[in-house]
Amino acid sequence: MRIKKSGAKYSAIVGIGEQLKKMSSETGREFLYLNRGINAVVNINLTNVIPLIDFNSNALQVYPANSGIIGLKKAINSVYFHNNSGTENIFITNGGMNALDLIIRTINVEKIFIAEYFWGAYINIMKINNTPFSTYFNFDYIKQNIEQLKNNAIIICDPNNPLGTKIDDNELIDIVNFLNKNNVTIIWDSPYRRLFLDNSDMLYSELLAFENVIITDSFSKSLGLSGQRIGFVHSLNKEFNEQFNINLLYNTNGINAFSQLLVERLLQTEEGKKATTDFKQTTVEHISKNINYLIENGIIASEFYTNAKPIGIFVIVNKNYQQLLDAKIGSVPLSFFTLKNDKSVENNARICVSVNHDKFKRFFSELLN
Ligand SMILES: Cc1ncc(COP(=O)(O)O)c(C=O)c1O
Repeated sequence: MRIKKSGAKYSAIVGIGEQLKKMSSETGREFLYLNRGINAVVNINLTNVIPLIDFNSNALQVYPANSGIIGLKKAINSVYFHNNSGTENIFITNGGMNALDLIIRTINVEKIFIAEYFWGAYINIMKINNTPFSTYFNFDYIKQNIEQLKNNAIIICDPNNPLGTKIDDNELIDIVNFLNKNNVTIIWDSPYRRLFLDNSDMLYSELLAFENVIITDSFSKSLGLSGQRIGFVHSLNKEFNEQFNINLLYNTNGINAFSQLLVERLLQTEEGKKATTDFKQTTVEHISKNINYLIENGIIASEFYTNAKPIGIFVIVNKNYQQLLDAKIGSVPLSFFTLKNDKSVENNARICVSVNHDKFKRFFSELLN
């Protein structure tokens, strides 16, 4: 059998998870899985939301509309865009990974620029789609090198995975404005943002001023529903939307109707809003305590946080994978998130700080002793 080899690698992060689980079962010791990219403080409590779904309905049992169930698209327009967009600009996807693959497949660019520290999946999705990539160091670099970016695309992820840093919204709008004017396609991939913000967040509405912006978002992080595989794409560009809709059809044949009805209820009903608010509040409280603990104990890799402290859900610590592993803490080496290979990369690792604070302290106090 002959195979089309893309050069993309199976997720090394998944590999680390499998290795840690094996070590835990072999030694009988408990591990703290901070290698993962999920909110693990609490589950979202769906008890009062599930009765709002009619399981014996066509809405749940029959193929949903290709671009998504209209009620969910209306809910997204209301909650994310304050009804300033339209359902024709919104497409439901199988989460962010699927959305990014479809976006990269749909746009016609020579190159895509990603931040110096990036989510590793980006480069693998680009390899699968035969799309070359480059990194950018910061927004000043973009301004100075704009000729290289013209007619190409850039991915912006804020709060950042892996650093956990957040850039000021005014600065973000400023750079989007500059890129948009220079004909750069902006792929806005910020699935961690809405964990920290409620529906009064106006940023997506403000992004509607820029035609070259494609927003991709996911309910994996902001609602803790990574198991449901659901997210959305928004664009104002008619030509993009037409082709994206075709690519979505032949890639998915519609997105799981249960997950769509569930998210619709979470966004729109009183029961759903309460479950969402409670989930976010508890999660963010523990994230914040964990970050403060790392700062107070000098475990944070401070060179990444000279301007502002991180907000999460990831943080870079000044311990390496092995040092953390010796304390039964799972992490991912920083080298997995950058093309750089200097000392700071070797000595640091990314951890997820979205776990119960008492458990977090218990494991880290062992590391400190
Ligand atoms: C920056 C970023 N974008 C997108 C995603 C995609 O998440 P999902 O496919 O679960 O929606 C992730 C997941 O870790 C991520 O970190």
